[in-house]
Amino acid sequence: MSPLAYQTPAAPADASEFDLTEVLPTCKPLGGLLDIEYDWDRVPVPSSLKWFEKRWATRNNPLDYSGVWRFRELLPFAPEEMIVTVGEGQTMLRRSDSVAKYCGLNDGCLHLQYEGLNPSGSFKDNGMTAASTHARMVGAKLAACASTGNTSASLALYAGAGGHFKCVVFVGSGKIAFGKLSQALDYGAVTLQIEGDFDDALMRVREVCRDANIYLCNSVNPFRLEGQKTIIYRILEGMNWEVPDWIVVPGGNLGNSSAFGKALIELKKLNLIDRLPRLAIINAAGANTLYRLWEHDGLRWNGGEPDEELVGKFYGEMDAENRRADTLASAIQINRPVNLYKCLRALDATDGVVREAHDPEILDAKAQVGAGGFGCEPASAASVAGIKALRAQGVIAPSDRVVGILTGHELKDPDATVNYHRGDRAYANAPIPVANDAGAILDALKGVM
Ligand code: F0G
Repeated sequence: MSPLAYQTPAAPADASEFDLTEVLPTCKPLGGLLDIEYDWDRVPVPSSLKWFEKRWATRNNPLDYSGVWRFRELLPFAPEEMIVTVGEGQTMLRRSDSVAKYCGLNDGCLHLQYEGLNPSGSFKDNGMTAASTHARMVGAKLAACASTGNTSASLALYAGAGGHFKCVVFVGSGKIAFGKLSQALDYGAVTLQIEGDFDDALMRVREVCRDANIYLCNSVNPFRLEGQKTIIYRILEGMNWEVPDWIVVPGGNLGNSSAFGKALIELKKLNLIDRLPRLAIINAAGANTLYRLWEHDGLRWNGGEPDEELVGKFYGEMDAENRRADTLASAIQINRPVNLYKCLRALDATDGVVREAHDPEILDAKAQVGAGGFGCEPASAASVAGIKALRAQGVIAPSDRVVGILTGHELKDPDATVNYHRGDRAYANAPIPVANDAGAILDALKGVM
């Protein structure tokens, strides 16, 4: 009998099956992307999402405490005793009327999903708990990733806290926010600063992992995306299991959007939801490969046969012109998103849209989120800037129920925040220099009291 869970190429035309014990088996189509698939007819799945609420009562079991593994019936690839968890996924969906107003949405229509509340401060922990579990299942001794900062912080945390493997992280020189670099160093990761940017670092780490049999933890690893599916489950939980109209997410390497698409397609197939929300993916304008290919060149999933030549031509021109990604939202400063094709599948299934946001719009949006009392890092605010733009274009209606994903914690990149507030943008809130004198201080407070 075939196994309950297996690996298979993302391209529907290639029905090869690989055992779970194989580490990134090679497949040709769609850049070699793989999915984890399940034989859902034989896997026991609850008949409604509400069933998962019973886990709230058994939070002393680490698997039920985890915001990823308490949904383990929907990512059933790991024996329970192999699971590596640090209590990830205690995140929240928060109604945000002030940001709704900024975006042009009605009161009550915008919720923000705070993934920065994860142990390493970003959504990456959702995926890294799953990749770490698989690394443990195959007995990996050394794991690696390239990163704009958050993936490396997360992998370093799981290597340090789990103790099952060591890790090495590749970061671009001068391309990483200090909050993130400090985490990799503090958690004991071997940290290589590659001469080049994230796109270079990712190409090198893939080569090195293949040649030296090191376990690769970037989002090309399909197990990671299984963990990231749970962000969708928690959003639905936060909405009392009602499907929103829109889910809006920043796009970098496109792992998250791909995982969201897979989660939603599966939930619909399992009759656990009755309709799909629309997905909106927001690139930074300085790193807008998906936006250009989707919006200008008309690239589509096309039933699993996207125009790979078009993509090759796009990258050829990019290299010929030496176009490099450039945005203050350093987390998504990526020009060669590895999950491009899976992301097309997600857009296709959800009637999705793609937009780009310029840095000043992203930073204004970030200041609006911060003013509401819970901040986020720049890349996260691309989702809010995108919601505002889609609202202005009439694509999102004022009464639509919208969820924006805030992917990373504000303290990841305090330089970006302080520089913004010292500048001259609309929502800047600069520190006020004042003499060491009570009278001068009261003078300075006149406008406030
Ligand atoms: N937001 C933040 C804060 C991120 O760190 C990333 C990706 C994204 C959004 C984009 O997500 O890649 O799934 O489309 N950061 C990776 C890293 C690339 O290395 O930390 P994606």
